[in-house]
Amino acid sequence: MQKLFLFLLVINVSIICNAQFSQRVRDSINQLSNEDHQIMMKQLGIDSIRQGANGNNPKAPNAANYDEAKANPYPSLPDPLIFKNGKKVNNAKDWWQRRKEIEEDFDGEIVGRVPANTPKLNWILLQSADTSYEGIGAVKQNLIGKVDNSMYPGITVDIQLTLVLPAQVTKKVPVVMEFSFIFPRRPNDTSRITAPAWQVDCLKRGWGFAILIPTTIQADFGAGLTQGIIGLMNKGGRRKPDDWGALRAWAWGASRVMDYFESNPRIDARKIAITGHSRYGKAALVTMAYDNRFAIGYISSSGEAGAKLHRRNAGEIVENIAGSGEYHWMAGNFIKYAGPLHWNDLPVDAHELIAMCAPRPLFISSGNVGDAWVDVRGMFMATVAAGPVYKLLGKKDLGTSEFPGVEKGLLEGDIVFRQHNSGHTPAPNYPFFLDFATRYFK
Ligand code: GCU
Repeated sequence: MQKLFLFLLVINVSIICNAQFSQRVRDSINQLSNEDHQIMMKQLGIDSIRQGANGNNPKAPNAANYDEAKANPYPSLPDPLIFKNGKKVNNAKDWWQRRKEIEEDFDGEIVGRVPANTPKLNWILLQSADTSYEGIGAVKQNLIGKVDNSMYPGITVDIQLTLVLPAQVTKKVPVVMEFSFIFPRRPNDTSRITAPAWQVDCLKRGWGFAILIPTTIQADFGAGLTQGIIGLMNKGGRRKPDDWGALRAWAWGASRVMDYFESNPRIDARKIAITGHSRYGKAALVTMAYDNRFAIGYISSSGEAGAKLHRRNAGEIVENIAGSGEYHWMAGNFIKYAGPLHWNDLPVDAHELIAMCAPRPLFISSGNVGDAWVDVRGMFMATVAAGPVYKLLGKKDLGTSEFPGVEKGLLEGDIVFRQHNSGHTPAPNYPFFLDFATRYFK
């Protein structure tokens, strides 16, 4: 415990000093994550799990598969519109009952449960400044969501949020909130940071945007599970197998921002988009699935444990996520499906996480060259398979099960899909997403 605390202190200090993580700190994090992973496996009664796919070396015996002929070992998916007792879901009323079964499976086996009575937050405005983005006047605020830690003062959780609202718009505005990666800047880096195009685009449309830093809610490694909001709720102890993982913790943080948005008279809290890329694409999908106050989502290159079917053998697979480098995103129980159980034993699959978002609009996105790891087809198939739920609720699905190919967006419905022609990045599809959101934010 103390060892872990010391290492986390070292990490914090290294961020403050803006220095790069040293290899030694990284090794220590890996070692402590391994330890926690082993302890979770012991709790589950598992000695070993199957090896993940190797995405770096195509000659490796466990090289990631990219041959479509071998990609579907379990082609039949659990049916979101059939109850566990075999009865059919016939109408919207049935769906909301069936949805509870699906949610229970995701809670118990996939993403874990959020504890009851998570503490209140106090939002503190650190800084407010008038500024402009490409000539558009804006107010930029830095806020901290201080989590009440009176239950265990040894752990502090201060959630970092940046909120930028257009200065000229007087009515309540929609906000696009992104889960963001932050990389410490080098001490000698004096370059000007230009705002990404999507941010300026939001302001041009008369909307605000927000940047949420997930790692201030929960660290992005297993060694951190006894810290952050997960560690706070366990009073510094380790997780039980159905406790929440980082994806749900990050989504929980987004929901706390939503609470704050609902209290902010300048924001139209019925028009909040959640967006995220890669691991944060997974988190954005989980946010949409679990908090119906979010109006719309942009899920970029979320891959395995996001919008990609777990039952697919393409790119990243269940075994990778279950390994010591990524298991912390999930409930401990998820590890079981990398051995002794298999993908087909999963009670639910990704299409049902997507279906949990219905009837709210969702944009599933992928890149092309350099983005094979996320299995674009597996994400497309899951999006197709969620379609019947959208239709049942009176919404428009993709309209086809034929894979459209690169830069041929299927953008007409309420659940849409587009593969852009760049790599592992959300940027090229952002304008398409913002156009999509405009349909609902008008
Ligand atoms: C790794 C990981 C992915 C994840 C990605 C990221 O590639 O295997 O699951 O989405 O990192 O977040 O960049």
